[in-house]
Amino acid sequence: MANVDFSNRDSFGSKFGVIAATAGSAVGLGNIWRFPYVAGESGGGAFVLIYLGFIFIIGVPVMLSEFTIGRRAKLNTFGAFKKLAPGKPWFLVGVMGLVAAFLILAFYSTIAGWTLEYIVKAFSNGFENQNTTVVFESFKSSTFRPIFWQITFMGLTAWIVLAGVKDGIEKYTKILMPLLFILIVVMCIRAVTLPGAAKGLEFLFKPDFSKITWNVVLEALGQAAFSLSIGMGALITYGSYIRKDNNLPVTAIQVSIADTLIAILAGVMIFPAVFALGMDPQAGPGLVFQVLPELFMKMPGGYYFSIVFFILLAVAALTSTVSLLEVVVAYFVEELRISRRKATIIGAISISLLGVLCTLSYSELKDFKIFGQTIFDAFDYVTANIFLPVGAFFIVIFLGWFLGKKVIADELSNEGALKMKFFGLFMFIIKYIAPIAIALVFLNSIGIIKF
Ligand code: TRP
Repeated sequence: MANVDFSNRDSFGSKFGVIAATAGSAVGLGNIWRFPYVAGESGGGAFVLIYLGFIFIIGVPVMLSEFTIGRRAKLNTFGAFKKLAPGKPWFLVGVMGLVAAFLILAFYSTIAGWTLEYIVKAFSNGFENQNTTVVFESFKSSTFRPIFWQITFMGLTAWIVLAGVKDGIEKYTKILMPLLFILIVVMCIRAVTLPGAAKGLEFLFKPDFSKITWNVVLEALGQAAFSLSIGMGALITYGSYIRKDNNLPVTAIQVSIADTLIAILAGVMIFPAVFALGMDPQAGPGLVFQVLPELFMKMPGGYYFSIVFFILLAVAALTSTVSLLEVVVAYFVEELRISRRKATIIGAISISLLGVLCTLSYSELKDFKIFGQTIFDAFDYVTANIFLPVGAFFIVIFLGWFLGKKVIADELSNEGALKMKFFGLFMFIIKYIAPIAIALVFLNSIGIIKF
């Protein structure tokens, strides 16, 4: 196939835009919905500690590696590996990323759809004098509404992706991310001043190491990868839109800190409330949908807060679904040579079909199990705990052992314009520490080796 010129590719317009869009991808349901429930199921404090460790020894280096690959190649994730490693099987990492994008977006859009239902409920005072667990159970086990909202959400996602990188993704994330942050802080203040809140903070921050198993360690690794959007090329794709004068290491660190802060704040918002309201921290995927409405009813102005909150939760989800769909669309456009419009429509429809199966896992397909899990749970587990760690493993190996020091140094220093303070450390981490750590966690938890 002839070398087509993509030099008129869309790109992010400003440095803040890059951070907003990337943080928009990272900060999402992973922070506010997934982090609390996974931490709750995996024992709390000890999980959180391991999670934080993974963010910094694996998350930041992998994020930076993805930016490097993306900006160097200026192509979608599949094309990027093909271009940087012609004739070698590295493109398979891109293929795996594409499959992961389909699976993640499929189950993610189920939950994203729930946020829309909750916006409507919030407006119509739907939590007032209700048992929020019953409200939640009856909604998610119905057939039509969750599917309707899921498809609506995919439509919104497609609409923004269609508008492009700068005029769609960047434009909206710049306003909405700061707003989300402020609101979470307000909610945290309410949560920690509830009577009995201390128990929740203790659960979140006091590590009980007897709870740690290799599975918990893998969950922490998977959650760290999921939350930072690493391991499947979303940040290779976004990296390909970052202009030459942006400082990649600084961006990666800022985005990781913002993402981590919001996850921790989400925990601080939820666990005190869980304990104060006598709910179960192991409630699973429904945790925030049951706990937060209760909390709102106990707040002055809770009606308004609940509306704003669920809108922002939907927005946080939207800036993430956009980044997932963009992976697929960029691939379709650049590799299959179809228009952005066609690519977006085909991508959104095919993912929605898969997504409906995830949504039905809570109703008609409740008893349909793959390896003992519903379709929803299987997609969630397999992507976060297998695809993303494996993807992250190969990405750091690619950089550390294949791409060459010179290329990496060029990208990280903007061709020598920036001083590189931690280059040696970075190379050491991506060559040895990160791959060994991922391999150990992975092999232990699936039982291939045993410590
Ligand atoms: N990071 C997002 C969240 O926490 C989800 C997400 C967006 C994602 N893009 C991704 C996860 C790519 C893995 C890979 O909600």
